[in-house]
Amino acid sequence: MGLSAFSLKGNVAVVTGGSRGIGEEIAVAMAKSGADVAPVARSEDALEATADRIEDAGGTAHPCTLDVTDGASVEAMFDDVEASLGCVDVLVNNAGVNPFFGDARNLDMETWNKILGVNVTGAFRCSREFGRRIDDRDGTGSIVNVASVGGVVALPYQTPYTASKHALVGMTKSLAVEWTPEIRVNALAPGYVKTEFTKGVRENENIREDILESIPQNRFADPDEVAASAVYLASDAAGYVTGEVHVADGGIAAQ
Ligand SMILES: NC(=O)c1ccc[n+]([C@@H]2O[C@H](COP(=O)([O-])OP(=O)(O)OC[C@H]3O[C@@H](n4cnc5c(N)ncnc54)[C@H](OP(=O)(O)O)[C@@H]3O)[C@@H](O)[C@H]2O)c1
Repeated sequence: MGLSAFSLKGNVAVVTGGSRGIGEEIAVAMAKSGADVAPVARSEDALEATADRIEDAGGTAHPCTLDVTDGASVEAMFDDVEASLGCVDVLVNNAGVNPFFGDARNLDMETWNKILGVNVTGAFRCSREFGRRIDDRDGTGSIVNVASVGGVVALPYQTPYTASKHALVGMTKSLAVEWTPEIRVNALAPGYVKTEFTKGVRENENIREDILESIPQNRFADPDEVAASAVYLASDAAGYVTGEVHVADGGIAAQ
């Protein structure tokens, strides 16, 4: 098996949360690896910017709006992408939120439901639609769920987020076994990455130092460092990999 096994040429990839951060980098990395890519999220202008980066790199992009909490929006997105790029071979469930940092005793249920609603139910909704469409055409495909190191170890003061990412890992394993061999399903578990998402904790000096101390590599990742893992998991190079949690966290979970 040569390096061509890492290529995504001939694939159509949907990347949820493709408007910024890790999703934007995964969308660009997949396009550079040969896939036609639909970056999808709620913010139209930011999606256009991702699409411009893909096209500047010589790739093909079809940005499309999507709210993962809305079933009709998920179906419409798949219809739109299929009409423009063809059947979807790769789904990256990357859209995620984490609006709460604090003692779980102070958490309100609305926030709990919001976090679980996007991070778990949203990913399931997209996976179910993807799975149905693959089945309808007797096709094959691959799902990459962007979980977190918080899907494999505790992240104190981020309990709803940790619960959501552990649930996403559970969903990954269950679907991997249920949908084999047609669909491979894997999770990517990044540690702390330099995006909008971690801006608050990176800019708080005390929290920042505590976090850096917990990372053996003692640094935050650049988004493209975790995007490379998503390309691998989606590619034929990972043909025998399913139900796996691929950790890219600077060593946090190894301790
Ligand atoms: N940054 C980290 O350190 C880190 C570490 C581990 C795991 N992760 C995970 O990686 C993923 C991406 O994180 P990030 O750091 O890139 O965060 P980010 O910069 O805040 O991006 C989050 C993305 O999710 C999209 N999104 C949020 N709600 C959505 C909804 N209802 N429907 C569709 N899209 C929605 C946002 O787009 P719109 O606002 O345009 O909808 C945005 O593109 C998340 O799942 C996160 O949990 C991040």
